[in-house]
Amino acid sequence: MQKERPIVIPIASGKGGVGKTFVSVNISYALAELGKKTVLLDLDFGGANIHTCMGYDTAPDGVGNFLNQRNMKLPDYLLTTTNDNLKFIPGDAEMVGIANISAAQKRKLINQIMNLDADYVVLDLGAGSTYNTIDFFMMSSFGVIVATPEITSILNAYALLKNSIFRLLFVGLKKYPEAKEVFTGLMKKGGESAWKINELLDMLFEIDPEIHAETATIIDTFNPKIIINMANKPQDLAMGEKLRKISKNYLNIEMEYIGFLYRDKIVERSIEERKPLYQIAPDSQTYQTVVRMAYKIVNAKKMPYFLLDIDSYDESLEILMEEATDDLATKIDGYNELADENLISINELLSIVKNLEYENISLKRKIEELEQALLKVKR
Ligand SMILES: Nc1ncnc2c1ncn2[C@@H]1O[C@H](COP(=O)(O)OP(=O)(O)OP(=O)(O)O)[C@@H](O)[C@H]1O
Ligand SMILES: [Mg+2]
Repeated sequence: MQKERPIVIPIASGKGGVGKTFVSVNISYALAELGKKTVLLDLDFGGANIHTCMGYDTAPDGVGNFLNQRNMKLPDYLLTTTNDNLKFIPGDAEMVGIANISAAQKRKLINQIMNLDADYVVLDLGAGSTYNTIDFFMMSSFGVIVATPEITSILNAYALLKNSIFRLLFVGLKKYPEAKEVFTGLMKKGGESAWKINELLDMLFEIDPEIHAETATIIDTFNPKIIINMANKPQDLAMGEKLRKISKNYLNIEMEYIGFLYRDKIVERSIEERKPLYQIAPDSQTYQTVVRMAYKIVNAKKMPYFLLDIDSYDESLEILMEEATDDLATKIDGYNELADENLISINELLSIVKNLEYENISLKRKIEELEQALLKVKR
């Protein structure tokens, strides 16, 4: 009999330092406490640090070593924790050098994650919307986005959602050239003015009602969850509401709230002592909120958990090229939408655009390096 695949819960954020690792570690413990066999995987290629939360000074071999070795299997790297139901796989020093993992490596990793012997696999992802993060975020319709109630965090969370849905549409519409042309046309226009996914759906309906229906289903299956972390006051909930509203309005994405966490000194203590909250403060409001989130995850109605076909991972590099070209336009477009909703001031917008321009130049440089490396390999 074929074994049931685990439910994958990727934890992502637009901006760094918002509490992804804290949430990943503590949700994993809470799932384990609820009796679920859980594996926590460190997939933050930019700054893997779950091992420190688990009491290790340096990371034992983990994901990086697995990607570089031919004969190792992912379960070979499982480490135990203080809860029998929870195991973890660290990100190690070898992971840092492979920020741009190849499609083959990614497929190997994804395949083995899907075959782990667990009820739940929690992925702690890197911040931002690089194509690596999005590919792993797309492993599940249960993706969780962590944001703090600050404007830049909300903006970047929105950019992550937008890039994710574009990634899904890009792959979904690939087999219909006419539809894809309409989509890329709208994306190019995006730099000038904001457009809504509903416009795309209307245009697709004109081309072919079946393509329209298929696309609407793709969008429907994408139901990311949101956590607002490090809130200072109940009113901070409004920032999450704004993100939900604008995502529904512009991207047709239905996001479910699964948690609202206050800034709490106990979290700092937990990091300092390198112990999870359930060990040092199981009765704290913060840990109890995390447990409620785990309940929500366990009781969520099951969705097709794998959004992209494994074969689509071959296209990553091609998509990366397209993305970098359109990236700036698309991102600025996202900010237009937020300005429309009076969520952001002109000065904030200007400083964000400056940062984006800088990011875009470095991204293009990285792609050139990658192309050179590819040419060398092909020769
Ligand atoms: N609810 C909270 N209350 C107080 N401090 C918090 C809370 N959540 C996270 N922190 C603190 O914020 C810092 C960043 O948290 P964390 O490392 O989990 O973020 P991250 O999103 O994983 O960051 P990165 O993008 O660098 O991986 C940590 O020092 C953590 O202790
Ligand atoms: Mg982290």
